Amino acid sequence: MVTLAERWDLRPEHFWMRNGRPDKPVETDENGVCNVYGYQAILDVFGDPKTYSSDVTRFFLADTETDDSFNEGTLLQADPPEHTKLRKLISRSFTAKMVAGLEPRISAITREILDAMAGQDEFDLVAELTYPMPVIVIAELLGVPGSDRDLFRAWVDRMTDSATALASEEGAAGDEEPDARAAMRHVPEMLAYLHEHVAERRRTPREDLLSALVASEVDGKRLDDAAVVNFANELLVVGHATTSALLGNTVLCLDSHPEDLARVRKRPETAAAVVEEALRYMSPIAASYRVATTDTRLGDTEVPAGTLVALWLGAANRDPAQFPRPNVFDPTRDPNAHLAFGRGIHFCLGAPLARLEGRLGLNLLLERFPELRTDPDNPPEFWALPHVIATSKLPLRVG
Ligand code: HEM
Repeated sequence: MVTLAERWDLRPEHFWMRNGRPDKPVETDENGVCNVYGYQAILDVFGDPKTYSSDVTRFFLADTETDDSFNEGTLLQADPPEHTKLRKLISRSFTAKMVAGLEPRISAITREILDAMAGQDEFDLVAELTYPMPVIVIAELLGVPGSDRDLFRAWVDRMTDSATALASEEGAAGDEEPDARAAMRHVPEMLAYLHEHVAERRRTPREDLLSALVASEVDGKRLDDAAVVNFANELLVVGHATTSALLGNTVLCLDSHPEDLARVRKRPETAAAVVEEALRYMSPIAASYRVATTDTRLGDTEVPAGTLVALWLGAANRDPAQFPRPNVFDPTRDPNAHLAFGRGIHFCLGAPLARLEGRLGLNLLLERFPELRTDPDNPPEFWALPHVIATSKLPLRVG
């Protein structure tokens, strides 16, 4: 059977998408990067933040005009003890309960978007739905006024360009290479905008996440404005493109598995399990990164201090030692302990939101369009980033 990756010509380094296996679970490449593909080996790294630091900024933002203040308040690159304190503070506001309460708003936003798509024979699902939906949800969650949505989206677009440009400069992407430094120059503009809102919430708190973050307190300590702003920015960056990818990838998985598509159409209550299996089978974050803080060993591979360690979550999610029949898309798989949201102290804080958006987005899309299929003459396009598997364009035909 032709894999989804062969059908749509996915990047060759995402070998697991072509049902390939690595020679070894851990392998150091010619650039000195330690690539980890095995499920257990990745758990070992996630479980040892002392030996494997998350502060990998020097590998990715070395030439850009950022300083340390850019990272203050962000979780992804923080290590304990700072990470522990920060995560505790942020978790007080960004709770699963708060996210569950968003269900009616997310449904309403999605319906509004779907209404605007009516009457077309073919559309790009990314431009129409999967891209705008998560940014509107995060903007609402934070409390950014609806009237500023477009402004917000434009900033997020530019940041996406910047991420693509950084990857391009590492020699990973296509011909048109936007300049990473130029794209990063727009970041302060957006941070200034968020600063204004944070200052406003200190004066007049509202029922939104920015107000909750401003007020949250652990051991008498609060987040300062810069930390709240940077975290809000982090939510946007990490919570937007990933959720968009999740929806697009789920649709592509179902398009290649018509029986599963028919089943979820008949039984919408199985959508959550479909989303979960799509997260495993076509993981949006193909890789996370760490840096070794000391000379160490991973399996039988030596890892010198300072080595960049790439954790290939997508490959681990096809590890036969963990998943029976790993290359079969099986939404009834149980258990399905995939690593698409990471594991350990940095486990994705937005997982409940991503799952909710994925389930609602899928159900509402299928409900609205009784027939949906890809168009071989107008194939999907993918982001040119090695650590991400996400459609940048997903043309679908209606009927
Ligand atoms: C962390 C994946 C959606 C916020 C992570 C990590 C992964 C991940 C793999 C761990 C990274 C590491 O350990 O290096 C995903 C995927 C998503 C998604 C696949 C969608 C399908 C979201 C959303 C939000 C979010 C919607 C918020 C609105 C975060 C935050 C962290 C994180 C704040 C950092 C947590 C920490 O360092 O303690 N995510 N994410 N993510 N994610 Fe997500």
